[in-house]
Amino acid sequence: MARLNLKLLLFLLIAVVSCTLVTYIFTCGHATSSHTRFIHRLKESSPESRGKLYEELLCSINGMYQISCRKEGREVFVPFSFLEKYYEVYGKLTKNSGHEQFEWSHSYSKVFKPTMRYNSSGMFMYFSNYNVEVRDRVKCISATEGVPVSTQWEASGYYYPVQVAQYGLSHYSKNLSDRTPKRKILEDGNLVTAKWQVPKGASVKRNYDYEKFTHVLEFNSHDSTGISLKLRQGIDLVLSFDLRFLSMNGSLTIFLEDRDRSTIFPVSFVCSPVLIHVFNSSGSYSTNYGLGSCQNWNQLTRDLHVDLVKGHVLSGRGKKLSKTKLRIHHLLVKGHGQLDNLTLASSNHMGMFYSSADWLVRHQDSSGGWPIGVKRKIASGKADLDPGWYSAMGQGQAMSLLMRAYYRSGKSHYLEAALKGMKPFSKSSTEGGVRAYFMNQYPWYEEYPTVPPSFVLNGFIYSLIGLYDVVSLAPHDQVGDAQLLFDQGMHSLKKLLPLFDTGSGTVYDLRHFTLGLAPNIARWDYHSTHINQLLLLSTIDSDPILTTVAGRWTSYMSGKRAAHN
Ligand SMILES: *[C@@H]1O[C@H](CO)[C@@H](O)[C@H](O)[C@H]1NC(C)=O
Ligand SMILES: *[C@@H]1O[C@H](CO)[C@@H](O)[C@H](O)[C@H]1NC(C)=O
Ligand SMILES: *[C@@H]1O[C@H](CO)[C@@H](O)[C@H](O)[C@H]1NC(C)=O
Ligand SMILES: *[C@@H]1O[C@H](CO)[C@@H](O)[C@H](O)[C@H]1NC(C)=O
Ligand SMILES: *[C@@H]1O[C@H](CO)[C@@H](O)[C@H](O)[C@H]1NC(C)=O
Repeated sequence: MARLNLKLLLFLLIAVVSCTLVTYIFTCGHATSSHTRFIHRLKESSPESRGKLYEELLCSINGMYQISCRKEGREVFVPFSFLEKYYEVYGKLTKNSGHEQFEWSHSYSKVFKPTMRYNSSGMFMYFSNYNVEVRDRVKCISATEGVPVSTQWEASGYYYPVQVAQYGLSHYSKNLSDRTPKRKILEDGNLVTAKWQVPKGASVKRNYDYEKFTHVLEFNSHDSTGISLKLRQGIDLVLSFDLRFLSMNGSLTIFLEDRDRSTIFPVSFVCSPVLIHVFNSSGSYSTNYGLGSCQNWNQLTRDLHVDLVKGHVLSGRGKKLSKTKLRIHHLLVKGHGQLDNLTLASSNHMGMFYSSADWLVRHQDSSGGWPIGVKRKIASGKADLDPGWYSAMGQGQAMSLLMRAYYRSGKSHYLEAALKGMKPFSKSSTEGGVRAYFMNQYPWYEEYPTVPPSFVLNGFIYSLIGLYDVVSLAPHDQVGDAQLLFDQGMHSLKKLLPLFDTGSGTVYDLRHFTLGLAPNIARWDYHSTHINQLLLLSTIDSDPILTTVAGRWTSYMSGKRAAHN
């Protein structure tokens, strides 16, 4: 008996320490505060009685293996650590007004109930919560393009239009949700001048640039160690500037100080075609971003915290670096060049948003697509996509972003790019477009235009939102096919929606039908994306199927299942 008591106590200790490891729940009978009662009795009862209340018991799982369970009277307790894996449920010990309790959840994801009608010039879904640039699969923000470089399907890095658009849409949304940023111009070559420290032999002057029609700062460091500017500006870490070099080589370096460790980390923008390079030799550490052809004007908007963290990750220092502990110590320019609009701010969401919009304008091809330069494997050898494919989701999200850029700036080239972006929607996925048909009848815009089609749900709905944004914001006489493509897509969506319902969740695509594979069950975050997308559509289309299905799918997230026969 004494041995058993000790074991039970040990179990409890482990439960408290490791939270989820060993918590018991009822598998049959009534679930009335089992856990607290268990602890309660154990504390109060005498050592002799404890062993009588709880007995060790072997549970045989499907006759295949055994695990250790507990028995109290007629009730059986199965370890939560086992149930967690078996049913993919989640649980943790928490404190509720001083009392410990166990919180069980069926899913880990969240549904955002829209409070008003979707607005094509407003925030994009809940993207204001996104922080695309800090994701592990983002190598860094390119200094030549101003957009993220993805490593998701190719470690060397490439520009992924979906990610570029999401980066822009998240900053557009943050511009609408955040407080007005603090912003300070440090140098504009004219009205605002900074106190540069110019060593012997070096020079700075401010003059009018006849190409740019504006005053700029011209610097020349000659053979000196460089021209510097003390900053100590506190916690604002978003720096923007216009820069070009007149010499073949040159650099602009920001020295960041970690206030805890009083270490200085340089981040440099240099004349180099190399995207990012980290120097890590004895006593010298720096992260360099290549400016490409630095003799042309470059307009940069940099989140220096992100720039430094990406360097840290590449040098093996890890990504832990608190933003609030960093401040700019000083700035240094080398070489012969011109600088303008040097500005420090707490954020510059619109600068980052327009970087994405401009990237999309520059990189759209003559078919209106944003080709994706990496091979995409869908299902081990089946229906691979060769580099150069278009994604209906990429097209749609680019359209959502470009229409917002057009709305904000009034510049027609954003509108033109968005309209051209619709072209692949009318071209079959067998011929390099994104259009497929379900059972030769219902058109579908493919996130991955595989042959045979894969019918990915969330990417299809993103493409519909892009089409809707064109319909809402383009001048009426220029909407083109957008309305027709949207209406056809909505019709297919309503017809096919039931096929994605498993009775306890959703499937991500219809590969089980088209590729003859096992169903591709949607993770909870994709499941909740499906719901959030349907709820968004329900604010612009009153067909009850959207809210009915969204409601049923939401109930699956708290363990409801469709009735069986
Ligand atoms: C849509 O969003 C924009 C930007 O936030 C706002 O200016 C506009 O008033 C909104 N329109 C409606 C109808 O809510
Ligand atoms: C959003 O953009 C507007 C216009 O560019 C700017 O005035 C405002 O300060 C920005 N707000 C935020 C939070 O970025
Ligand atoms: C360019 O400048 C960098 C840093 O100032 C220096 O390391 C590099 O050697 C220079 N390259 C050339 C070709 O001068
Ligand atoms: C870079 O330097 C840091 C600190 O000195 C060290 O911890 C890290 O291992 C180095 N990384 C490489 C790749 O040399
Ligand atoms: C600096 O900003 C002003 C105002 O936006 C702009 O007109 C000017 O061209 C910029 N300077 C450079 C060198 O691009």
